[in-house]
Amino acid sequence: MAKVKALPRSRHVCQACGHASAKWLGRCPACQEWNSLVEEFADATALAPRPSSTGVSIGDGPRPIDQIGELGGVRRPAGIGELDRVLGGGFVAGSAVLLGGDPGIGKSTLLLEVAAAFARNRHRAVYISGEEAVAQVRLRADRLGLAEADVEVAAETSVEDIVATLSQGATPQLLVIDSIQTMWTQTVESSPGTVTQVRGSAGELIRFAKRTGAAVILVGHVTKDGQIAGPRVVEHMVDAVMSFEGEGSQQFRILRAMKNRFGPTDEIGVFEMTGAGLREVANPSELFLSERDLGSPGTAVFAGIEGTRPLLVEIQALVAPTSLGTPRRAVVGWDQSRLSMVLAVLEAHCGVRLSGHDVYLNVAGGMRIQEPAADLAAAAALVSSLARAPLPADAVYFGEISLSGAVRPVAQTASRLKEAQKLGFTKAVVPEAARNEAPDGVALSAIGMLANLVADIARDGTHTPRRIGGRDG
Ligand code: TYD
Ligand code: MG
Repeated sequence: MAKVKALPRSRHVCQACGHASAKWLGRCPACQEWNSLVEEFADATALAPRPSSTGVSIGDGPRPIDQIGELGGVRRPAGIGELDRVLGGGFVAGSAVLLGGDPGIGKSTLLLEVAAAFARNRHRAVYISGEEAVAQVRLRADRLGLAEADVEVAAETSVEDIVATLSQGATPQLLVIDSIQTMWTQTVESSPGTVTQVRGSAGELIRFAKRTGAAVILVGHVTKDGQIAGPRVVEHMVDAVMSFEGEGSQQFRILRAMKNRFGPTDEIGVFEMTGAGLREVANPSELFLSERDLGSPGTAVFAGIEGTRPLLVEIQALVAPTSLGTPRRAVVGWDQSRLSMVLAVLEAHCGVRLSGHDVYLNVAGGMRIQEPAADLAAAAALVSSLARAPLPADAVYFGEISLSGAVRPVAQTASRLKEAQKLGFTKAVVPEAARNEAPDGVALSAIGMLANLVADIARDGTHTPRRIGGRDG
């Protein structure tokens, strides 16, 4: 750490959003986070403008766009299909990717595997760990069966040292920094882990990437409380932001692009955490449906689309009489406001009274759904639970519900149905517009108004339609 000057300039920086204030405040005026301001010191040298003497040909001035060499053309696939798809075909040379995720979700495991895959393709891959000793990284490599891999590993936290070392010798094609929160740079005089340091270190490393053409991956831990600087402050500096998600208790891991300058943002990559590292899941629908609770009310299979790929997931609902004045509405894996909307439509147009019931909705397998096409499956699961009528086990559901209670068409009907057919489903409950798109062996039930579906489900239930939603049973 550089020496502290006699009278350092101090400011208070929000560790959640990076807002700086001269005084300490209990609440950040920019992002409204409580207790997130931390005093940071900056001396005059840190604030002085940096000389731009990187020695590259930036000084050529503006040029016609067609005369500029293609940097983005150098795309290097990692050789891990699920990751490459999310990236849009591989890592772009000179780009920086931020990989965020909860501690323990498997970021280090994934990146060690990526580095090994690069090394296997005879690319130089360097893995810098700021959290673990090299021996610990070696131990993980043993566990992953990658002890023979040609990955260079170092335990280091000084960005200047890393950049200086890597600037000698061959440029690495891949540089993994695990994690950005442990890095520190001399150009900024704050303690490691503060936003100012995180941002300063990320800036240095991104400059290194642009200068040398190395692809740099920065790992960032996501913390809910503002104590450790969240990687959110570097999101606008990097070319792509990926998040690695999953339920700690389950073995599925989903890689999602939240921002991608060189590729799509709607693709997901699905992995399974095994005893020997992450395994790619080429057919996620099979995995998400592998532990279905057949024959019990309140579950519906949604035929969804993630990016270019169809994905079948189970939606589970529990509707039970409430013991509270205000009934509970809890949802995991779906949008809370969409649930409220579906419930309102069920009440207003379908005669389903839910004001006396707690409602829980869950997307199985730790999946998170963003499509409005899930409305119909969610509604079917809710009504099925309320009426205690199991839905047919071999049926899938999709369709958007409008406020008028109509079921609206959604995109990519054909690939949703084909995926359902592939996995052995024989029925599909779909919007009216999809009536003629049935593949062989799948019987379609086209629904114009949600009320029709509610009546169909309730007819099979232990509650009669007349009493549905009543408090008397
Ligand atoms: P890790 O990659 O260290 O997570 P992160 O870097 O995101 O903090 O993974 C930690 C968890 O993964 C840990 O609980 C152990 C588990 N794990 C496996 O199940 N199998 C494996 O082969 C490895 C290496 C880890
Ligand atoms: Mg880690």
